[in-house]
Amino acid sequence: MAFNIAILISGNGSNMLKIIQAYKNGQIKSKVVTVVSNNPNTIGIKKAQSYGIITKVINHREFNNTIQFEKTLSEYLFKKSINLICLAGFMRVLGKNFITKWDRKIINIHPSLLPSFKGLNTHKRAIEQGVKYSGCTVHYVNESLDSGEIIDQDIVRVSESDSEISLKKKILMKEHKLYIKVIQKLEKNCD
Ligand code: GAR
Repeated sequence: MAFNIAILISGNGSNMLKIIQAYKNGQIKSKVVTVVSNNPNTIGIKKAQSYGIITKVINHREFNNTIQFEKTLSEYLFKKSINLICLAGFMRVLGKNFITKWDRKIINIHPSLLPSFKGLNTHKRAIEQGVKYSGCTVHYVNESLDSGEIIDQDIVRVSESDSEISLKKKILMKEHKLYIKVIQKLEKNCD
């Protein structure tokens, strides 16, 4: 099955870029229909436009509450016939209404081996706790933060010389491959 993908970002968009490139070079069958950012100043939006992808900024700060923001987001995604939402550095926690509407259609990439290090500052906490291995996880999004069913993970070894920055870089390189692998897996599973 080929999905109509929307990628949701808040920042740099390096995972987003890898998914767009995989779509453009035929590594995945699915189509990246649109990239949405909640942050009007993200560089990721410009990167997506440079690949000819339709982009949309839906700035959560312009709404009175989360429900209104998510309603607008949801309506936009329905209009675009989206059936797979890939969160790629999207730094908003999605609410119950949105998640129920898009049940098992939202996946997220997280820079740790879940269930370890949910939430923010994952690399810092991994270094502080002296773990020997860390990594990344792609999971379905449910109502509990970073707790949905795990689809796949990849591991990196944490060496004694690693800093927060070097660990982040190592994991990000794994993330870029893992996200593509997971989309390919979902395409096969839905055939
Ligand atoms: C990635 O490391 C991703 O795993 C993380 O934000 C970064 C975004 O990088 N996501 C989270 O922490 C979500 N909880 P990118 O914008 O370069 O893809």
